[in-house]
Amino acid sequence: MASELLKDKVVVVSGVGPGLGRGLALQCAKAGADIVLAARNETRLAEVAKEVEDLGRRAVTVPADINDAAACERLAETALASFGRVDGLINNAFATPPLRDLMKVDIDAVRAGFETNVLAALRLTRLLVPALEERGGSVVMINSAVLRHSRRTFGAYKMAKAALLAMTQNLSTELGPRGIRVNTIAPGYIWADNLQWYFNHLAEKRGVPMQQVYDENAATTDLRKLPEPDEVADAVVFMLSPLARAVTGQCLDVNSGEWHH
Ligand SMILES: NC(=O)c1ccc[n+]([C@@H]2O[C@H](COP(=O)([O-])OP(=O)(O)OC[C@H]3O[C@@H](n4cnc5c(N)ncnc54)[C@H](OP(=O)(O)O)[C@@H]3O)[C@@H](O)[C@H]2O)c1
Repeated sequence: MASELLKDKVVVVSGVGPGLGRGLALQCAKAGADIVLAARNETRLAEVAKEVEDLGRRAVTVPADINDAAACERLAETALASFGRVDGLINNAFATPPLRDLMKVDIDAVRAGFETNVLAALRLTRLLVPALEERGGSVVMINSAVLRHSRRTFGAYKMAKAALLAMTQNLSTELGPRGIRVNTIAPGYIWADNLQWYFNHLAEKRGVPMQQVYDENAATTDLRKLPEPDEVADAVVFMLSPLARAVTGQCLDVNSGEWHH
């Protein structure tokens, strides 16, 4: 892994959870960046911050609910007060919308999904645009392979992520002339806590080893291996780095070839 790609850049990560959020913070730090970590769980923020510091980079934690406008303002102010600049923003925070058919799902719950997954990302991006403009910075929205299918019960999730894609494209058009790139990454499976718990649950229900459930799902991908958080995060590092300096308004699928797009 090239450790110079984000050398001395400052990257804000929203939604530092145990899966991809942590992976994003660590891979950006390995690539040379200092990290501003935001989520609601202060204990987890402190744990991931320690891991970033163990890699030799600086970490600042900001406990924040990004649905709260004042908390987002505090996040942007803290990032600038701590480092004096921001080069990258990763909108990773995510609230699972209800997995029910659109014909049955509670409309208020669908609306709530848009709050965290789309509108909060827009709010945070707007707040950091002046700082990003000064640095020729870049924004990455974390999307999902749900964009690529229309399976039952995924409607509310797909609506939110499709809106995030649309927002990425329009922000790219608006912010490109100001020197800011805006892209999105669409992971499929991510082999981390949530999926491991789910496969374990399926395996117990069927009375088979978890490895069998893994192998069956991995068999649906070209590479026969489910991507791990660091592998998805490295695609985000690429998008934030100078290697992607002519890439904006794009969606990059990171799914071991499960879906071709
Ligand atoms: N997991 C998968 O298999 C998968 C597949 C495709 C795409 N994705 C996408 O990848 C991203 C990360 O997913 P993940 O499952 O790996 O999760 P993760 O990065 O482990 O955690 C996301 C974190 O977002 C934080 N968050 C939620 N609402 C928030 C709010 N209002 N304010 C601040 N932080 C908030 C939560 O932390 P707090 O509770 O501490 O706030 C949560 O732990 C998501 O955008 C998801 O759609 C995931």
